[in-house]
Amino acid sequence: MDHPHIHYTPTPLLLDNLKTYIMNKPLSSFLTLCFLVLVYHTLISNATGRSLIDGILLPTQKNEQPYRTGYHFQPPSNWMNDPNGPMLYQGVYHFFYQYNPYAATFGTIVWGHAVSYDLVNWIHLDPAIYPTQEADINSCWSGSATILPGNIPAMLYTGSDSNSRQVQDLAWPKNLSDPFLREWVKYAGNPIITPPAGVKDDCFRDPSTAWLGPDGVWRIVVGGDRDNNGMAFLYQSTDFVNWTRYEQPLASADATGSWECPELFPVPLNSTNGLDTSAYSGNVMHVMKAGFEGHDWYTIGTYSPDRENFLPQNGLKLSGSTLDLRYDYGQFYASKSFYDDSKNRRVLWAWVPETDSQEDDIEKGWAGLQSFPRAIWIDGSGKQLIQWPVEEIESLRGNEVKLQNKKLTSGTVVEIQGVTASQADVTISFKLEDLKEAEVLDTSSSVDPQVLCTERGASSKGAFGPFGVLAMASKDLKEQTAIFFRVFQNQNGRYSVLMCSDLSRSTVRSNIDTTSFGAFVDIDPRYNEISLRNLIDHSIIESFGAGGKTCTTSRIYPKFLTYEDAHLFAFNNGTQSVKISQMSAWSMKNAEFVIDQTVKSAA
Ligand SMILES: *[C@@H]1O[C@H](CO)[C@@H](O)[C@H](O)[C@H]1NC(C)=O
Ligand SMILES: *[C@@H]1O[C@H](CO)[C@@H](O)[C@H](O)[C@H]1NC(C)=O
Ligand SMILES: *[C@@H]1O[C@H](CO)[C@@H](O)[C@H](O)[C@H]1NC(C)=O
Ligand SMILES: *[C@@H]1O[C@H](CO)[C@@H](O)[C@H](O)[C@H]1NC(C)=O
Repeated sequence: MDHPHIHYTPTPLLLDNLKTYIMNKPLSSFLTLCFLVLVYHTLISNATGRSLIDGILLPTQKNEQPYRTGYHFQPPSNWMNDPNGPMLYQGVYHFFYQYNPYAATFGTIVWGHAVSYDLVNWIHLDPAIYPTQEADINSCWSGSATILPGNIPAMLYTGSDSNSRQVQDLAWPKNLSDPFLREWVKYAGNPIITPPAGVKDDCFRDPSTAWLGPDGVWRIVVGGDRDNNGMAFLYQSTDFVNWTRYEQPLASADATGSWECPELFPVPLNSTNGLDTSAYSGNVMHVMKAGFEGHDWYTIGTYSPDRENFLPQNGLKLSGSTLDLRYDYGQFYASKSFYDDSKNRRVLWAWVPETDSQEDDIEKGWAGLQSFPRAIWIDGSGKQLIQWPVEEIESLRGNEVKLQNKKLTSGTVVEIQGVTASQADVTISFKLEDLKEAEVLDTSSSVDPQVLCTERGASSKGAFGPFGVLAMASKDLKEQTAIFFRVFQNQNGRYSVLMCSDLSRSTVRSNIDTTSFGAFVDIDPRYNEISLRNLIDHSIIESFGAGGKTCTTSRIYPKFLTYEDAHLFAFNNGTQSVKISQMSAWSMKNAEFVIDQTVKSAA
């Protein structure tokens, strides 16, 4: 294989070395620890005040590249899909991603690699894992990091082997003293897991981060299906190399098709903290997440390592509509989370695909974004998760514009001036009074909120709503993306809040997918203000309703961006007035993306 970016041939570290790392915990891990603490301190002192400008700046090409983002993670060029193996190692955040280094389209996939001190600014490194073995010669697909005792990261990933079978492989860093972990070594005995009997060998992939039970046994889940019923197959191991399948899958659901990127992780009740993936006792629930049909679906339940089962609190029934719990109701897929012990939080990444045409991607020279990293925790109700951009994003905030107690009467469109509307962070809260006039929605038969959003976009008048913001709007409003709410009352005197992203007018260009998104927001509008945060970044808008209870991520490609600046508005197109109690909008600076000097292609 010809890899212009990769000129080294790693000498394989013997499996024995890894086993020694894992097994001889007391002495070797103590020595490793002492050594690493030393390295860590050297690193931190080097890192303090370090400017990423030491590296080589990437060409920005902002003028010719109206859809390239300013603060979302992107490789310098070409195709990117799933996030892989995110972790914190020796004070450095590592991010790996599915990458085709040769084209802006899917192809033979390697693991792209970048590092960061703050999850905001990134240093691009050479690809970490790429086809070299029979067991991964056709591609190195998605996988996860597990930090083994002694602080040794191990990577489990899916290889597409010489017969295009999907098998699971193991790799580890060549040099644990290099905080950037630039070089990776593969287990010579790969694959370590092959498809079980009765499972199609092209639908068996994406090993999760491993968790350690109280019995000293490691566990992982791998995605697949039996007869179109999606499953998270469960595997166990005592040495991380010899894995045995447990007879029952940890979770499954009928007729979903094959599952991808399954994850199981604990969340502490009544806390915004995260937990190590191996934590299981105390006031803890577990989240089971799987990807299928282009969405990341999750359920919350109780995991018992003794009985080796996961009991979801709401059963595993899926309506197939946006009434089901999803991380995000827009473009957000193949996510992966990790525990960040420096801030006691769980951080979530996801692939945000393009929705323009393949021809457009080839012309742009790139395809695929990552969501801005989100902290993820369980809501006080215990019924759903909350997601919120990690706090480090605030370092990018520039000029701030504020509004307070601003009444929006029926039909109002008010421009929010003084921020760079194509690259902004906008938080806004709406206060509603006297909801007697709210539209009645018949909820006796189940309604699909996404269908409601599609049928009743921003130009369809209601009573309370549509109200919200018009983002990435041209001056004449011909192109605009409305993110808005509607409030309904139902036959039982209860209220529902619907959140929508209306993409129908997001662009006048053709061959763009302008499907609208939407879901209900679990708040009572009689007692709560309705808040909305939007991270706007050229061709992406990440929207967070009610403090992160409902999220919709959209891709947008307005034509006007090639010749005029974007505008931002607040609007109310309902018959009833609403009040903006509070609004803050910030211009966002560019994050720094640099190429490490060790990258061969940058020399
Ligand atoms: C391992 O990494 C450290 C830190 O970057 C470096 O000083 C050392 O030379 C590396 N060792 C080898 C064998 O490459
Ligand atoms: C792998 O583990 C299983 C279950 O613990 C055991 O029966 C088997 O002998 C092991 N195989 C090897 C090669 O160690
Ligand atoms: C969490 O908080 C809710 C209400 O805020 C309370 O009902 C519940 O008992 C709390 N749970 C725990 C485990 O503290
Ligand atoms: C408000 O509704 C009117 C008519 O229903 C429509 O023409 C207009 O575009 C809507 N405004 C927004 C901001 O969508």
